[in-house]
Amino acid sequence: MARKIVITSGKGGVGKTTICTGLGFSLAKMGYSVLLVDGDIGLNNLDILTGTYDKITYDIFDVISGKCRINQAIVRHNFYKTLFVLPSVKACFSENVKIKDFYDSVICLNNDFDFILIDSPAGVEFGFERAVCVADEVVLATTPHITSIKNTDRVSSFLNGKYFNKMSVVINKIRGDLVLKKEMLSVSEISKALSIPILGIVPEFDEISVSASINGALNLSDKVFKAFDILAQNICFGKNCLYDYKKQHIGLFKKILNSIKRS
Ligand SMILES: Nc1ncnc2c1ncn2[C@@H]1O[C@H](COP(=O)(O)OP(=O)(O)OP(=O)(O)O)[C@@H](O)[C@H]1O
Ligand SMILES: [Mg+2]
Repeated sequence: MARKIVITSGKGGVGKTTICTGLGFSLAKMGYSVLLVDGDIGLNNLDILTGTYDKITYDIFDVISGKCRINQAIVRHNFYKTLFVLPSVKACFSENVKIKDFYDSVICLNNDFDFILIDSPAGVEFGFERAVCVADEVVLATTPHITSIKNTDRVSSFLNGKYFNKMSVVINKIRGDLVLKKEMLSVSEISKALSIPILGIVPEFDEISVSASINGALNLSDKVFKAFDILAQNICFGKNCLYDYKKQHIGLFKKILNSIKRS
């Protein structure tokens, strides 16, 4: 039976699709069979980030409307052979994909994968309800910004009434240099503000921004991969390791402090 994990958030643009894709790459690299489901229907990006856009013929709406079988809609990743994508809808209103139809389409794949990761839209509206309906674990994505943390707290209280095996947070786009200068909340400060365990940290990496700007597909260097690998290992083995997001800045920070003291 697959572990079905939804990646969601209160605020938009905090990195849900990036985390879903990066985590999928890392889990596939570890040898697991992984299905990424694009639950952000109408505003789908998973096809672009995974680089599967060109391979898509059918989507989840074609499956629901009986135009094709689910296995015809699922596309295999070019490089990670155990990674698959169930694409969202290219041309239909989000509301046309009913919660029950979405649930039925995903649940029938329960025995075919080790992991099913569902990329969700932001907020707590209909699209979110649909994306979380089939999941048994929740990963909330947040950035270190107050508005995002506040909305994460709201979504977690909203989800507390529902039954999930696990709920955890990934802090995305954190910057060690700003945290050291006390210009950004640290992981421990964010952790205190939220009553949900921290699953992992993904720092703000220029490489992610650059790949998003150049061709859209997530292209990970070893350094960036490490953050997602730690995340994947925490999920698989129940570890609590966190990426050392301050390490590379500590030397630099000390130099700046010393030069300020000297002047
Ligand atoms: N760790 C990171 N470092 C640098 N840029 C990042 C990082 N994570 C995400 N981004 C960038 O932030 C933008 C938003 O990311 P993404 O699309 O994953 O967010 P989202 O939460 O899925 O957005 P939406 O709510 O619109 O679905 C993208 O341009 C992406 O490249
Ligand atoms: Mg997204």
